[in-house]
Amino acid sequence: MYKIQKKIIITSVVIAFFVGASANAQHYQQNIDKNSLVTFKHIMQGLLSETKMITQGIILEDFTLINDATENIINHPKPAMSQRKKLMKALGDDIATFKGLDHIVHRGAMKIQQAAKDKNMVVVIAEYQKLITGCQSCHSTFKARLSKALL
Ligand code: HEC
Repeated sequence: MYKIQKKIIITSVVIAFFVGASANAQHYQQNIDKNSLVTFKHIMQGLLSETKMITQGIILEDFTLINDATENIINHPKPAMSQRKKLMKALGDDIATFKGLDHIVHRGAMKIQQAAKDKNMVVVIAEYQKLITGCQSCHSTFKARLSKALL
């Protein structure tokens, strides 16, 4: 008798856990979709303005401007779930290459920011070049193909 009771309790706990977890997952997913209407293109347009700001910061030797612009690149908004799904589908096995190029830009922005904090313009420019190369490499490899897939 005791054994059966124990089994029932364990089973109900397990069921409760799964029901709870899936409700939570659904809630989470809805939250992401509702809150984020950000398209990949929006993020890219933001990256361009921030990159222009870095250029301006270099020309005017304004390290604060460089610092702020890189901060916005490092913490750029995440694309909406629907956009991410399209991206993954279109990328297939090329996802690693894509992520690698994304990583170059992120790391570049972090290095530029550190150099701006150190007020070291030589390093800012060296890292800026790597960042731009990262933008351009991804565009020449993926932009045409993904532009279509992201519509
Ligand atoms: C990992 C890949 C990747 C990297 C890195 C990347 N881009 Fe892009 N970019 C794309 C893709 C894909 C598109 C096409 C998006 C679309 O059409 O929806 C794009 C489009 C753009 C556009 C055109 C947006 C429009 O209005 O059509 C701009 C501007 C842009 N990127 C700027 C940048 C800048 C600046 C950087 C670097 C700081 C950068 N991108 C880095 C993949 C990348």
